Formats: sequence, structure tokens, C-alpha cells
Amino acid sequence: MVAVYVTVKPASTIPGQLMSALFTPIQLRGLTLANRVMVAPMCQYSADDGEANDWHFTHINSLALSGAAMFCIEATGVEAIGRITPGCLGLWNDATEAALKPILASVRKRSKTAVAIQLAHAGRKASSSRPWDGGQLIPPAQGGWQPVGPSAVQQKDDEAPPLALDETGLARIRDAFVASAQRAMRLGIDAVELHGAHGYLLHQFLSPISNRRTDQYGGSLQNRMRFPLEIYDAVRAVVPADKPVGMKVSATDWVEGGWDLPQAIELATELKKRGLDWIDVSSGGVSPKQKITLGPGYQVPMAEAIKKATGLTTIAVGLITDVRQAEDIIASGKADMVALARGMLYDPRWGWHAAAALGGHVAAPPPYWRAPPHEHKDLFGTTSFGAR
Ligand SMILES: Cc1cc2nc3c(=O)[nH]c(=O)nc-3n(C[C@H](O)[C@H](O)[C@H](O)COP(=O)(O)O)c2cc1C
Repeated sequence: MVAVYVTVKPASTIPGQLMSALFTPIQLRGLTLANRVMVAPMCQYSADDGEANDWHFTHINSLALSGAAMFCIEATGVEAIGRITPGCLGLWNDATEAALKPILASVRKRSKTAVAIQLAHAGRKASSSRPWDGGQLIPPAQGGWQPVGPSAVQQKDDEAPPLALDETGLARIRDAFVASAQRAMRLGIDAVELHGAHGYLLHQFLSPISNRRTDQYGGSLQNRMRFPLEIYDAVRAVVPADKPVGMKVSATDWVEGGWDLPQAIELATELKKRGLDWIDVSSGGVSPKQKITLGPGYQVPMAEAIKKATGLTTIAVGLITDVRQAEDIIASGKADMVALARGMLYDPRWGWHAAAALGGHVAAPPPYWRAPPHEHKDLFGTTSFGAR
């Protein structure tokens, strides 16, 4: 079956319509996004040996119809021991690649959303139980595995330390990121986001709290950035030039003496030189000692600072739930895009409602064309509804 879709028009092309910044297209290399909204990556902890299943089919297809121009597949382990939990998604062998194939085929048939994938390695936070089972480390004797990290420094005092990676281990993980990126490209995925945030492996290298190495991968900021930059370079080299590669970072550890915004700006500057296409600005996750002041859009000032200092395309994330709040972030130039996680689970048509409120348009598959109330009857563009 060939799907038929309405055309998504930028709000600015509609006569008499105020221009919505959120519904202005953005170009990321060869990828044109019709609006500035991304569904943030969200672990589902529901895979079988890293393989996507019926849950992922439902979850991804549902949020592919949110109206967001891009959906980012959850943190996806580049090797089995890089999964946070035994239920985390993977893309490290033919079986994990094959499991995603029918899901992507379905999304392509029913939705116009671009699909990104977040490639990840959990490092010392791997081998944990699912959040709803407590999230604690699972020892190898109880079905877990030996986690690895930059140094043999555990996250929590009562945990067993990870195995410090040697040169062979680093090379294996670099190769695993590359192989997963190649699998993602074979699957026709539109963009790759590297997970450099939330205390997972790349962030563990960046932060002096988790990285106590004395070799060329530890100590100075330049040395701590080395492995994440190597991963970026290696992945960028195998992703075609017309497809974007972004990175999610924690802009601060929220711990005195840890990773902080000035260092994140240095990292962003290095990544910009290497052609990074977006930086997705989050925070925290490396230390249980973090003290976070939560509030609406609490990470936006960090996205703004990185954008101002580097000119990188910046995605703001974190407690962005309100349409006007999102519009203001883009219109005031604080960030170039917004990503929503919990807000999208709560309202899986968030993008529709945002478009309706701001005079934008979204694409929807024909069976849903009768959804908009009368006052938003052109939500899906210029489609004739004569068949009603
Ligand atoms: C269920 C769930 C799973 C998540 N999994 C990931 C993930 O796989 N990768 C990631 O970078 N962040 C993950 N996050 C964090 C979100 O992407 C986002 O950064 C965070 O929730 C703040 O945004 P929000 O306030 O819109 O939820 C997850 C969040 C939730 C709620």
C-alpha cells in the first residue's frame, strides 16, 4: 500500500497567519524538519535480548504520529554489555537489526516523522534492574554482567566497581558504535544521536568524578574529551554526508568539582569544528550527590549558553510541557529545537495541539483526517475534506 499524506506547510506561508517559530522548518544537512519538535529518546526497558518487539511497534508508531517532526529511538546499546538493563534495546547484531526493520517500515508507511536513533553505552551504569524493579546493579551471579568504565570507580559507594577499560576495550567500543551506526544507516534511519549525557559511558569519560585515568584519556579536559570525540569522529565517518549526527550531553554534573557548563562549552566547540549537527542539552546523572534545582525549562539556560558560545544547532530538553513555553524558547533564540519526553507520553498528540494553538500544520494519515475540531479544520493543511 502506498500512503497518501497531506503536505506540511510552514506557518509562515499562510496568508494572514502569524508566523510560529516552533512551526518553522529547520534543515539538518539533507534532512528537512517541518517543525522544531523532537520526541526525546525514552528507554522502554522492554526489549528481548536487545531486540525490539510488539511494545516498540506500538510505542514508536504511536509517537510517530505526535506531530513532532522527529522521533528519536531510545538509548540503544552498541554492545550487549552496554545496555543499562537486560530490557534495553540494542543494535549490535543481525537479530537486533532485523527486529527494528518491520517497525521502521510501518512508521515510514504511516508517518512523515523523521526517525533518529540514540546510540549508547551505559558503561558503569550497565547491568542494572529496570527502574520499576528498583534500578539497582544486578551482580553477574544474578543474571547481570560485569560493567566497564573509564576507571574502576563505582557510581554509588555500595556498588562493585566497573572494570577499567584498556586500549583493547576502547577500540572494541569505538568499533561497536561504528557498526551500530552502519546498521542504523542500513535500516534507513535519518539521523544518529550519540548519548553523551546522564552519566553513561561517554559522560563518564568527560566527568572528573568518574574518570580518574592517568593516561591520555584522563586528567586534563582535553584528555577527558578524547574518547567521546573519537567516537563522534568514527561515527561521523560512516554516516553519509547528507545525514545528521547529533549528541546529547549533560551540561553539568550538578556537583562541585564535576563536569560543568564551561567544560560543556569546550566540548561543544570541539564538536562544532568536527561538523556536529545538533547538541541536545540535558544535565546530571553521573553522581548520586547531584543537587538539581528543578523547574519548568530548567536546562534551557544551559542550551542557550552553549548556542550563544558556539552557534551550534541546539535542542533544549527538560520540563518543557507548555506550547507557549516551547514557542518562546524558539522565538527568543534560546534554542533551535525542543525535545519532549514525559510530555509526549502524557499527550501523544502534543504536536497537533501545539500546531493548533500556534497556527502551524502537521501531517496525519488519512484515517485521522476527521479528528480536528472545526476551529482547527486546516490543521492538516489544505486537504479537501469533501469525502466526509
Ligand atoms: C521513560 C523515560 C525514558 C528515558 N530514556 C532516555 C533515553 O533513552 N535517553 C536519553 O537521553 N534520555 C532519556 N530520558 C530522558 C529524556 O529524554 C529527557 O531528557 C528528560 O525526561 C527530560 O525531559 P522531559 O521533562 O520532557 O521528560 C528518559 C526519560 C523518560 C521519562
